[in-house]
Amino acid sequence: MSEALFVFHGIEKTFAEVEILRKVDLSLYPAKCILLTGKNGSGKTTLLKIIAGLEKPEKAEIEFSGKLRCWKKVMPIIRKEIIYLHQQAFLFSGTVESNVAYGLRFTSLTREQRRESLKKALEWSGLTDLAKHEANTLTGGVQQRVAFT
Ligand SMILES: Nc1ncnc2c1ncn2[C@@H]1O[C@H](COP(=O)(O)OP(=O)(O)O)[C@@H](O)[C@H]1O
Ligand SMILES: [Mg+2]
Repeated sequence: MSEALFVFHGIEKTFAEVEILRKVDLSLYPAKCILLTGKNGSGKTTLLKIIAGLEKPEKAEIEFSGKLRCWKKVMPIIRKEIIYLHQQAFLFSGTVESNVAYGLRFTSLTREQRRESLKKALEWSGLTDLAKHEANTLTGGVQQRVAFT
């Protein structure tokens, strides 16, 4: 198996003194899916938010690029590298392409480079034919694809 991208060790999370996660270890590998199951309220969403850098754990160490670091040090990296896709996609009103292109505004790319990048992203996710559609009128699965792209 290829090397893990991130290895999380001993994740602990408490909400209002209730222990939600206790010593959870998790390794993320490139191009590998993980199925996370558990009862409602068992802490699945909390765990996903922690590994995406959106929720702060009480404790956790993370191995990244062969080094063991604390969550605080790794948080900016995981926020950049890991995308948390909520089951309910949050989209802006407007077309598919305007949603996908949104983040490009905050880059230093030229107009031409942004157009090229948008084209590639739409092709990558198979959304080229839906580019001019109003994003909020699409099915849930397609909306998730738009959010992910
Ligand atoms: N922001 C929060 N503040 C307080 N308690 C929370 C918060 N988020 C989740 N919880 C509690 O943590 C537990 C785990 O929630 P969650 O991770 O959403 O579970 P799951 O996704 O497995 O259904 C639940 O008891 C939930 O009520
Ligand atoms: Mg959940």
